[in-house]
Amino acid sequence: MPAEPLQLAIVGLGNVGTGVAKILTEHPERILQRAGRPIEIRRAVVRDLNKSRDVTLPAGVLTNDIESVIRDPNIHVAVELMGGIHPAREVMLRLLEAGKDIVTANKALLCEHGDEIFECARKHKRTICFEAAVAGGIPIIAAVGQSMAANQIIGIQAILNGTTNYILSEMLLRGQSYGEALQQAQDLGYAEADPTLDVNGTDAGQKLGILAQLAFGVKVKSSEFHVSGIDKLERTDIQHAKDLGYTIKLLARVSLNKGRLEMSVRPTLIRADRPLAQVHGPFNAILLDGDVVGNVWYSGRGAGQLPTASAVTADIIDLAIGRAQLTFAHLDLWRETPPFALAPLNESTSRYFLRLSVEDRPNVLAEVTGVLGRNGISLSTIIQPEAPEVDATAGAIPTVPLIIMTHRTSAGSLAAAERDLDRLASVRSPRMVLAVAD
Ligand SMILES: NC(=O)c1ccc[n+]([C@@H]2O[C@H](COP(=O)([O-])OP(=O)(O)OC[C@H]3O[C@@H](n4cnc5c(N)ncnc54)[C@H](OP(=O)(O)O)[C@@H]3O)[C@@H](O)[C@H]2O)c1
Repeated sequence: MPAEPLQLAIVGLGNVGTGVAKILTEHPERILQRAGRPIEIRRAVVRDLNKSRDVTLPAGVLTNDIESVIRDPNIHVAVELMGGIHPAREVMLRLLEAGKDIVTANKALLCEHGDEIFECARKHKRTICFEAAVAGGIPIIAAVGQSMAANQIIGIQAILNGTTNYILSEMLLRGQSYGEALQQAQDLGYAEADPTLDVNGTDAGQKLGILAQLAFGVKVKSSEFHVSGIDKLERTDIQHAKDLGYTIKLLARVSLNKGRLEMSVRPTLIRADRPLAQVHGPFNAILLDGDVVGNVWYSGRGAGQLPTASAVTADIIDLAIGRAQLTFAHLDLWRETPPFALAPLNESTSRYFLRLSVEDRPNVLAEVTGVLGRNGISLSTIIQPEAPEVDATAGAIPTVPLIIMTHRTSAGSLAAAERDLDRLASVRSPRMVLAVAD
């Protein structure tokens, strides 16, 4: 007797939902073979029934009525691909209460409301799969949640946003300005019309929050650790970093140090010979450090219709087999008592790159290094590119860039030094301060 089909609803038939529908309808034999039973799309929920769709579904499947999914006892799995927080949060809670297992790619929702949603799933004995929520097509949730089970992960360093990685690559490899590279990313579909959440680091912060939950059991919202983006970077920063042997990446990083977690998403100088520095274009990459296995490396497409749909479909197949239900019960996510605490922001340590704009006159170097020294910051490099000869009789004092690399120091010491630099008349705006990876 043929195995009973798994009936599902796709809630949101946009970019990713369409990709999932295509995979399921175009490869039924492959799906049957991998899942052990057919997978049928019983409903696909959208906002606008009149919009043209890039996939053909049987009559009656497309609907704008979420209630028809919630009420239907034959639908066992709902694939939430609406995105955003509202009404996705309310819809997901109702689907769980109605007894549906969930597959989602919604990192924003999991990062901000994971505790409530996972509690609801446990209460109703349901399963939530979210492989596509971090790094799209790269199976990083399975890697951190299952494959590294013998390890305590002690560090994660990752490029988790393809849009910003594309922009930084264009700035480095083709000498484009930030604005030119962003425009090109938008023209090619790598950046949205409103790229704010990508370029200001929020998207990568949400993904890092989910990875930190899986790897360390901590509940961290992106407002609770250092998150900054690439939108203030200038071509000159990319060039100075390159001259020093580094490449700037939007690095998402969490590490376990003496029982405390240091966590950040920020533009970071990475030595150019390191694998992460060589990931260019709209790709993602993740370096995991496990106490047993050592370093493990993943890279690939972190977004886009089919890469993301690939991860969603794998979750659906895992649910059809019954494997996801077993794993979920043991993951124990978003519980109340995290085993590790975040280190206070001021105590986190890093090396830093500083680009200052300073007056080209005697004693300025001594003033700047004096401020850094008084705040306990030791310097590893200081470069003042050669400037044209100053005409002492001309009125305004010209400025020149001053590039400084520090040894490891605390964020608190750096902030104190920045406050002191603000008081120096010889140091002008703007100032660029970037972290440097070890
Ligand atoms: N795109 C990517 O590369 C990617 C990568 C990783 C993760 N994700 C995540 O995947 C999710 C989906 O992204 P996407 O790019 O596919 O989004 P999208 O193209 O904007 O599609 C959203 C879909 O949800 C439907 N929808 C939105 N609000 C609704 C409502 N209130 N009621 C019913 N239907 C509603 C829309 O209906 P209409 O079509 O009628 O407007 C549309 O079909 C998001 O959580 C996103 O963060 C996306």
